[in-house]
Amino acid sequence: MSIYRSGVWFVKGLREYTKSGFQSASKNFNNADLEVNVNDRAFMITGANSGIGKCAAITIAQKGGIVHMVCRDVTRGEEARQEIITQTGNQDVHLHQLDMSKPRDIFKFAKSFRESGMCPAYDPARPNRQPVQGMNFHVKTIVP
Ligand SMILES: NC(=O)c1ccc[n+]([C@@H]2O[C@H](COP(=O)([O-])OP(=O)(O)OC[C@H]3O[C@@H](n4cnc5c(N)ncnc54)[C@H](OP(=O)(O)O)[C@@H]3O)[C@@H](O)[C@H]2O)c1
Repeated sequence: MSIYRSGVWFVKGLREYTKSGFQSASKNFNNADLEVNVNDRAFMITGANSGIGKCAAITIAQKGGIVHMVCRDVTRGEEARQEIITQTGNQDVHLHQLDMSKPRDIFKFAKSFRESGMCPAYDPARPNRQPVQGMNFHVKTIVP
């Protein structure tokens, strides 16, 4: 990478990815954007035992959503799950063990999750998705 590009990236990083960058950007956030109803909606979050994943899991659990945490380490995952349940009072927080660096395991996991009946399908007649049999994901992902 050229010195120019490194410099631009460094300045962008300082302005947008640091704590002060977040604080300055947050002045333009619209609080109404966060007022979404996630009751009965299920969310699968990879890397949910720390960082952004855990933060997302806590926020969704606080709002009453169903959280499926996908973690590679059961001990760290269970510790985070208990913390999220205690902090939010939401018992609908589930832990799944999966190493996202193993594609074959991801396919196996997706198949067994689909067959488990925990997978929510989209029901246009309901305002929120209900946990019914079938597989019809509306997926947004941030993977580690
Ligand atoms: N932080 C930011 O500002 C930012 C901005 C944009 C995008 N992102 C992206 O968002 C993601 C999370 O960022 P973060 O800052 O929250 O990172 P982090 O604190 O390092 O969290 C990473 C999480 O991913 C898990 N993980 C790592 N490898 C895994 C694997 N093979 N299988 C399953 N889980 C695995 C870790 O589990 P263990 O505890 O087992 O290690 C940990 O829970 C990254 O991809 C990052 O590039 C971050």
